[in-house]
Amino acid sequence: MNIGVFDSGFGGLTVLRALLDRLPTADYVYLGDTARLPYGAKSRATVARYAVSSARFLIDQGAEYLVIACNTASALALDAIRDAVPVPVLGVIETGANAAQASTKTGDILVIATAATVESHAYAAACRERDLHAYEKACPLLVPLVEEGWIDHPVTEEVLKIYLDELLEDSAREGLNPDTLVLGCTHYPLLRANIERKLPSTIKVIDSADATATQVAGSLTIPAPEADQPPERSFYATDSVQKFRKLGTRFLGQPIDYVQLIDLGG
Ligand code: DGL
Repeated sequence: MNIGVFDSGFGGLTVLRALLDRLPTADYVYLGDTARLPYGAKSRATVARYAVSSARFLIDQGAEYLVIACNTASALALDAIRDAVPVPVLGVIETGANAAQASTKTGDILVIATAATVESHAYAAACRERDLHAYEKACPLLVPLVEEGWIDHPVTEEVLKIYLDELLEDSAREGLNPDTLVLGCTHYPLLRANIERKLPSTIKVIDSADATATQVAGSLTIPAPEADQPPERSFYATDSVQKFRKLGTRFLGQPIDYVQLIDLGG
């Protein structure tokens, strides 16, 4: 089984990391559409065009199952991707909402995400289907800071403090009693410790990576690989492969030795 994993950049490697823990014997092909990132500031039509061309590329590489490890593409383009490819496609919004449902006791969920994800209200809709209330906040500066590798950086700390203080004040003003915060962007798990430090201990931080990997593992049976054939891992990026190797290693938690540069157009 060859599993295609797609994100606009490196963030989806946090999902691949969880998949490798759960399904270590599968083959994986990962695409980071780094040349066209950020998706989170673009329109639905543009995100769908980029995401569909990326999904088709993964199918051409032999992917038999696609994980859209990007909240923005999952929120804005999941139906377009499903219409365009002949294999099962799993997005991360539903799995994130499932994880929120499993975590919350009060039913009030905070979601931080890109502007496009928040404007789509995909999390609010997914939470409503589960009788939960989601309060969503766009944090557009976080993706560029993470892509820059500024994880434990004073600027990132200050930006996070401003976003999270606003989020807590606004949700309190709405009379909400949140006990769960969803990292609604696959870049944000890299900032998880910084985020947890700035929240009351009564709020649990969750991301969709583990929930996504669990759902994939539950729906696929992966045969053991031949003894002389180790599972394949291929990495593709649409911009600097040097940067992908360097930052990607941080997201994946293990070295990425080789990345192929591809051109998917504009
Ligand atoms: N990692 C993407 C997500 O989960 C966002 C990055 C971007 O804006 O392209 O939403």
